[in-house]
Amino acid sequence: MKKILDKIVLFFFTIAVGLLFALGAANNKARTTHKYGVGGAGQLRIVDDPAFPEHEFFQAGRTFPVLLRHGTVTFEDDAAMDIRSASIKFLDKQSETALDLIMNTGPRTFLNAINFWQFTMASISGREEGEPVSSKGLEAFLKENPVFEKIFATSLRRSPDSFAQLYYYSKLVNYFKAKDGKIRYVKYRLIPESGLESGIPSAKDMETPWLQKRLDSENRPIDYLRAEYVERASQQEIIYKLQLRLQENVEDNKERIFSQEEDWDESTSPWLDLATVAIDRALSSDETEKLHFNIGNQPDSLGIVEGESISDPNSINSIRTRVYKWASSVRFFIYWLTEKFDKSKPAFSYYGEAGRDLPRFDFTRPLPSSVQPTGKYFAQLGLRVLPFANVIPPIISERIGFSAMPGKHAAEWMPANLTRCHPDKFSDAFFVERRLNGFNPGKLNRVAGQDWQYAISYNTGRYKLEPGGLLPKFIEARFVLDGENLQVHSIKFELGEEIATHFPGDLNWEWSKRLFRSAEFVYQEIQTHLGRTHMNMDQYAMAFYRNVKNNPIRQLLEPHLEGLLNINKRGAALIIGNTGFLPEASALTPESVFEVLKDEVKELSYKWSPVVQALPDRIVNNYFDRAALCTWSLLEEYVGQFFEENRQGIREHWQEIEDMSRDLIVHSILPPEKGSLAIAGIEDLRQLCIYVIYHSTFFHSWVNGKQYEDGGDVDYAAIGLWDKGDRSYNQNTVDEKQEAQVKLMWQLANVHYNPIMEVGPVALKNLFWKYRDRIEPGIPLEWIMTSINI
Ligand code: HEM
Ligand SMILES: [Fe+2]
Repeated sequence: MKKILDKIVLFFFTIAVGLLFALGAANNKARTTHKYGVGGAGQLRIVDDPAFPEHEFFQAGRTFPVLLRHGTVTFEDDAAMDIRSASIKFLDKQSETALDLIMNTGPRTFLNAINFWQFTMASISGREEGEPVSSKGLEAFLKENPVFEKIFATSLRRSPDSFAQLYYYSKLVNYFKAKDGKIRYVKYRLIPESGLESGIPSAKDMETPWLQKRLDSENRPIDYLRAEYVERASQQEIIYKLQLRLQENVEDNKERIFSQEEDWDESTSPWLDLATVAIDRALSSDETEKLHFNIGNQPDSLGIVEGESISDPNSINSIRTRVYKWASSVRFFIYWLTEKFDKSKPAFSYYGEAGRDLPRFDFTRPLPSSVQPTGKYFAQLGLRVLPFANVIPPIISERIGFSAMPGKHAAEWMPANLTRCHPDKFSDAFFVERRLNGFNPGKLNRVAGQDWQYAISYNTGRYKLEPGGLLPKFIEARFVLDGENLQVHSIKFELGEEIATHFPGDLNWEWSKRLFRSAEFVYQEIQTHLGRTHMNMDQYAMAFYRNVKNNPIRQLLEPHLEGLLNINKRGAALIIGNTGFLPEASALTPESVFEVLKDEVKELSYKWSPVVQALPDRIVNNYFDRAALCTWSLLEEYVGQFFEENRQGIREHWQEIEDMSRDLIVHSILPPEKGSLAIAGIEDLRQLCIYVIYHSTFFHSWVNGKQYEDGGDVDYAAIGLWDKGDRSYNQNTVDEKQEAQVKLMWQLANVHYNPIMEVGPVALKNLFWKYRDRIEPGIPLEWIMTSINI
């Protein structure tokens, strides 16, 4: 009778826990515990010479595709002291689950269901603001329960180096039904191939296991651990060893086998190698979130041991197997609901693989209607592009003069540009002036211990060139500071086998300047224009469109993102891609163009300001820094004011920012040592908004709008230089490439759609107007557009 009663109590207890966690899942729109995680996919191979008894499922040499998820139990902050997890899903040939193993750090867990319930209640009661776990409640509970305190403390890891450097245990007891028919019990663990473990808490931490927050000395980003895993998976296979240990089924020893008060004895139950797990790719955030594990997913030859009562250690198993099912059903119901009613996420889907490919809109898909270009945009584009589109019948085009424009004489017919209008475009003074204020600004670096004080260098050695292409492996222009004037000192370059340094007046001085201008052009287009503005902003636009609906920052950012995804989808193919302008006209191969681009985006984070690159000395004609710093500070004022006025609303809809942050983190290709794109608080969000508006307005307008000034004249700057002595040299192709350059530069620089001073928000217009004297010598106000749309 007591047995039946115990089972009934356990049943109702399970329902209570189930409700608690199902509600948690509904509330969180995600897992109630282990919410923050990262996933991977790969292969598992059972060892060839098992030391365990022959088993039907774990056959020697058998392989399974596997999915794996690592998580942190409660803290979003990866630097906290918390329990970490590893869950592995073994898939069968039909890609169905064959076995789930769910493991956490630390060899032991809750003593039984009562202990679990008390712990849960203690850790949620009396939580203070910003605490995912009540440190007070936990402290009181642990002090009353010294046995569990030890179990808990030994499961914690403080800011580990990697999810791939931890030991994870299944902790509870499962059946192992070998071919010999004997019943045995099994526990599992997953360990790094190297055996090295990280994140073991200090003695001081072990004394106060309820103080889990990050240490003051810690300055890594909150998602460093997840980011590290994605980066690691992109570099090499991540290898783990899966192990098991067994106990014979001896009736009078069962209590000790099941107990969590003590772990199994290493001498009677050693760890035996079970399999090698090799993870070869990281999962996207969507793939990771949609994983679901359950300890009940096991073949008949394995399986959980069910508990008899709430004080039985195996009651944890009984509860979990049911609760996991309910909690993940609720979670999936919520996913279904949100995807059904919120069509925007699937509409804005990312291209390629998270953390590996550029984080951008999937340009192979149609553009969602909310971001389709307007009629006004098409009209303005048409004004600039139409003359070059081959749509006008020759009979008309001859009349209106277009037909004479193509071919090698294109330049003669094209409107003049700045360099053609300069009395001496090849003078050294103009050379310096354009390095300060031309289409690729912000590249001068202060150097110490040399005859020159400033240098700009470009390194192309790593990249591949087309046959006959002339692009120095390395080129550096050096400048001396004379009072408040900058003068060119020399240019050093390495071209093919030749390493040379030329000075003003040398025989080859003009040639070295031309080489430099060509290298600069390549980097201006790929790194500065495409990388820093178009592709860099794409990742913010995606995270924004997917998640921000009701948060007031929508009003702030939306106008500055108009047109971006459209031009990146349509225009990128025009410029990169196999037949794009850059691979065609420059000396770099298509693959190299893409590599330069990706290498640049890998360096970029919104935790930046133009102060870091402004020249430390005053230079009279340094108009760029003055304008850049001024724009940044006026944006600080503008965005600061907006945040003041909307603080309440921003907080109310903070969940959207958390979701945005998650998308940014997971898709970012920033290596962990460069920080993270996580938005950890309102300050971060403010900085992100300033950064996005700065690049979408001022910075893009500068680097895009000035392309024709420098690149509209092939005698002055050609994006590709070609060796006349090379077998592949062909004058006609070179002419075509140069013609394409001039036309494209003209189009890109002249579509002036939505200047801020015409359509921008009033507060922003006023600030630009107020500070025009500091911005204008660098760029006319009417050239500053509201967004990146060409
Ligand atoms: C009665 C005790 C427990 C309850 C009620 C419980 C409940 C839950 C719930 C509701 C989830 C979220 C599942 C989902 O949404 O898919 C979860 C996840 C998880 N639990 Fe437990 N849990 C318990 C004990 C344990 C123990 C002892 C371990 C360690 C061996 C553990 C390891 C995990 C792991 C690793 C995950 C994350 C799985 C993933 O990556 O998706 N849990 N748990
Ligand atoms: Fe552009």
